[in-house]
Amino acid sequence: MDMAKLQDFMGKLVVDLGGATLAANMLIGEELGLYRAMADSEPVTPAQLARKTGCHERLVREWLSGQAAAGYIEHKEGAFRLPPEQALALAVEDSPVFMAGGTSAIAAMFLDKDKIVAAMRGNGAIAWGDHHPCLFKGVERFFRPGYRAHLVAEWLPALEGVVPKLEAGAKVADVGCGHGASTVIMAQAYPKSRFHGFDYHEPSIATARQRAEEGGVADRARFATATAKGYAERDFDLICFFDCLHDLGDPVGAARHALQALKPGGSVLLVEPNAGDSLDENINPVGRFFYAASTCLCTPNSLSQEVGLALGAQAGEARLRKVFLEAGFDIFRRATQTPFNLILEARK
Ligand SMILES: C[S@@+](CC[C@H](N)C(=O)[O-])C[C@H]1O[C@@H](n2cnc3c(N)ncnc32)[C@H](O)[C@@H]1O
Repeated sequence: MDMAKLQDFMGKLVVDLGGATLAANMLIGEELGLYRAMADSEPVTPAQLARKTGCHERLVREWLSGQAAAGYIEHKEGAFRLPPEQALALAVEDSPVFMAGGTSAIAAMFLDKDKIVAAMRGNGAIAWGDHHPCLFKGVERFFRPGYRAHLVAEWLPALEGVVPKLEAGAKVADVGCGHGASTVIMAQAYPKSRFHGFDYHEPSIATARQRAEEGGVADRARFATATAKGYAERDFDLICFFDCLHDLGDPVGAARHALQALKPGGSVLLVEPNAGDSLDENINPVGRFFYAASTCLCTPNSLSQEVGLALGAQAGEARLRKVFLEAGFDIFRRATQTPFNLILEARK
């Protein structure tokens, strides 16, 4: 027994259990507007923050103390301050690094614990729509900041000849669109193009329609409930899969369907979690996050559907290439990447 190794591991576990507990406090702080009330980075006492947010002062002090112990906020002489850098991640919804909104997706994994345990003991399947509804908004808010920061500025320009088509007026599909964050962002950037969001989860499609209204693009962003192999529209210049291909039961079937629905010369934009091609390459903070989420969300969803390929959220580029070549595409390449995402392009 190596006692030093045990001590090191106990230290790591304390940090991780603290992180899991803190996630619940982050969710609470986000919902109550505690972070937002500190977004100006001015020092506040617990009494001032409690007054500002209409919360119980003693509990606010305890929450602030936990946030200070975690290094999320600063503490000096009884006052607490959210530094501007941390405010970007915790309080500013429109910032490119806003993360607090995604915590409700993490909450779903706890709320659905019994279903996940039953799936692991049984056939592995949990359909997306059978999760607690806090998942759907959490996923939207987790991914949207990245789409806002990179989709129009970097990802679409990294594709071969796609931006001129979008500027002139293209027909675009967003498959597995969820709440339509990516669809609305593209529709706002390219007013001459027409966007069709598809998802098999009807409540998500209803929210996506609402988001298009709120974003002023309902005239050019339409949504329909359809599976990735079931939409009937054709002649797309661009078909997108944002963080959903690995969730599908039959990704090869979905890619084949996309190939049939593309115009000659059309492209697929595939956005997937960043991953290397082997487990050894994914032993890092991004791998730790996505494998854990994939155990509870992505892989059970795939197993709930026809074929049940269960790629998992850390499939990696080589495995994804195999899917698209098997479906009949000739060209598959990495267009660009971020620390969280691989941006891949497929063409015939
Ligand atoms: C992780 S979420 C991503 C949602 C959205 N693309 C985003 O980036 O915010 C995966 C989405 O895939 C959808 N989905 C899963 N299986 C599907 C299928 N077979 N056909 C269509 N959509 C599917 C789910 O309903 C869910 O909205």
